[in-house]
Amino acid sequence: MEQQPSIKLADLIFCLSDAMDFIDPSVVNHHKQVAYIASSLGAEMGLSEAKQKELLLAGALHDIGAFSLKARKDTLKFQFENALEHAEAGYSLLRLFEPLSGIVSTVRFHHVPWDKGKGGISKRQKVPLSAHIVNLADRVAVLINKKKEVLGQITAITRKINENSGSLFMPEVVDCFNALASREYFWLDTVSPSIQSILTQKLKGASFETDSDDMMGFSRLFSRIIDFKSPYTATHSSGVAASSEMLSRFIGFPEKDSRIMRIAGYLHDLGKLAVPVEILNKPAKLNSREYNVIRHHSFYTYRILETIPAFSTINKWAAFHHEQLNGLGYPFHLKEKALPQGSQIMAVADVFTAVTENRPYRPGMTMGNAMHILDKMADSRAINKDVVEVLRKNFDEIDSARAHAQASAMREYKYLSQNMRDFRA
Ligand SMILES: [Fe+2]
Ligand SMILES: [Fe+2]
Ligand SMILES: [Fe+2]
Repeated sequence: MEQQPSIKLADLIFCLSDAMDFIDPSVVNHHKQVAYIASSLGAEMGLSEAKQKELLLAGALHDIGAFSLKARKDTLKFQFENALEHAEAGYSLLRLFEPLSGIVSTVRFHHVPWDKGKGGISKRQKVPLSAHIVNLADRVAVLINKKKEVLGQITAITRKINENSGSLFMPEVVDCFNALASREYFWLDTVSPSIQSILTQKLKGASFETDSDDMMGFSRLFSRIIDFKSPYTATHSSGVAASSEMLSRFIGFPEKDSRIMRIAGYLHDLGKLAVPVEILNKPAKLNSREYNVIRHHSFYTYRILETIPAFSTINKWAAFHHEQLNGLGYPFHLKEKALPQGSQIMAVADVFTAVTENRPYRPGMTMGNAMHILDKMADSRAINKDVVEVLRKNFDEIDSARAHAQASAMREYKYLSQNMRDFRA
């Protein structure tokens, strides 16, 4: 595989926030707007550049724990019930990725009201200033009516924020907000379609190599956020990551590429972030509209990963997993020649994992039944026969790596779902 340039942390973060905001037109750009407002407030308050960057990151990820469309829509109301739940879920997820440890408590406490100073402490922990800043930034963002011209809304939004100074919001943050609010550019930036380039400029720095441990950690975090949306597939990406890595190793990929295969496995269903859990978790048969919405997911995986040039190979390996050698797959209807070997491995790993993993409503298949399904698919040239043969020869080893990876993801899922009601939506 050709040499890949390094990846900017900023690009990864915006990938994730875009994916979260694809869930519904009403929340498009919400995370980026909060990132912009929070970091601007930090600058206005005279905080260090490092703190401003943390505010930007925390704003870009603050609602990462709100999985259902309902939970996301709730957060658009100025005040709503159970606000602390998605914040706690977000905190538990972000804790899994060390490079973001600086923002975990900001995300955890981004809905704690100031309450005349009582909001300085929550859950016996000190609530950081940054959490109060994100809280106000978030509420400003939800007060903006996207359908109307923005400058005409300044007076009403500023009034609403000031009415809640001391109760919901920390007075010092409100003061700084008032100063910012008097400048038109602040509002025009907030609603600007090019908000991402504004943010990227603010967030220079941090980057890592495609096959680094940090990249592995980040894609693992991604996979948890994707999978934990649904109890049916709570560990699916972890299984696909492990089995695609093993398969590629048996096929003879160099070690570096096998690791990249694992990353692609973690990310293959990324586009599911754009599918509401109400559809992913529907207990009854899907109607044709819902089935179509599910089929959006691998297309979104492609379009989201496409924004990161260093991911061009990972993207093909990940996003073509529902393409078939015979051209009958989706969404591009590519044929064998246009499908790189990595994508063909991914397609096998995906089906293999789907049939062998345990689901709440059925146990995983035995080797015989699983191979029967894979053989039939290989016969119709949906998937690659040679890859299926490699799987057959090394079935036990690949299957135990898959089961092991899924068991460990399941422990994290259980911990989260026991602590959060909304988690299963
Ligand atoms: Fe929130
Ligand atoms: Fe929010
Ligand atoms: Fe998929």
